[in-house]
Amino acid sequence: MTAMVKAEGVHKSFGAVQVLKGIDLEVAPREVFCLIGPSGSGKSTFLRCINHLEKINSGRLYVDGELVGYRQKGDKLYELKDREVAAKRRDIGMVFQRFNLFPHMTAVENVMEAPVQVKGESKAVARERALKLLDRVGLSDKAGNYPSQLSGGQQQRVAIARALAMEPKLMLFDEPTSALDPELVGDVLDVMRGLAEDGTTMVALTHAMGFAREVGDSVVFMDDGVVVESGHPREVLTNPRHERTKSFLSKVL
Ligand SMILES: Nc1ncnc2c1ncn2[C@@H]1O[C@H](COP(=O)(O)OP(=O)(O)O)[C@@H](O)[C@H]1O
Ligand SMILES: [Mg+2]
Repeated sequence: MTAMVKAEGVHKSFGAVQVLKGIDLEVAPREVFCLIGPSGSGKSTFLRCINHLEKINSGRLYVDGELVGYRQKGDKLYELKDREVAAKRRDIGMVFQRFNLFPHMTAVENVMEAPVQVKGESKAVARERALKLLDRVGLSDKAGNYPSQLSGGQQQRVAIARALAMEPKLMLFDEPTSALDPELVGDVLDVMRGLAEDGTTMVALTHAMGFAREVGDSVVFMDDGVVVESGHPREVLTNPRHERTKSFLSKVL
């Protein structure tokens, strides 16, 4: 079976600062893959490399069997054109800590926007799907609300619906609950749990250890640009083998 994400020796520097120091990992289709680690360890950078918002310096990164951002001919790599990168990025949904909804559009318009603008879908078809997706994230009664009329947790659920509207084969979450008031976190995690049950392939950076333990198929602990330890959530979160993992978990649990 082709991995949904495969990283081989991925290195990334910003100037002289090496942020990713050889990341190897594999995410299987339908897997919920949770990436944890201290702030500054390179988690967001790695996530951004997956959809080519950042270029890697060396190594190989594949999504669904295809190189991210490049075409390989013989031993040589050729960078894809912006248009080709954009086309591939459409298959990858991304949800950020800050939801970045369009403020002048209602919830349903936010969710319809990309299918209409990018895929050229008819508004009627896009609206119908958008309403179904808003229902799926528990917001069917908020379709006509503007972002300013929604709580942070509701905005984040609209952002998830918006990402799903492009029918991505992979969903990336960069700490989707860390900007939310504690009482709003649960609803967003419930939506992610529902996606997991439906077989959505997800890579989630999260501080929500309960979510990682209950929903995750694997947990990877990253520190200082390397994968320190990975495995089933039960092993990594309950019986960590490495001191660095133990020390991190003792601070967050
Ligand atoms: N665009 C950038 N330019 C320079 N340094 C960056 C950039 N993005 C991230 N970094 C640095 O890379 C390191 C890892 O950051 P990041 O991937 O955001 O970590 P994490 O998500 O684990 O907190 C940090 O030291 C950060 O300052
Ligand atoms: Mg980050």
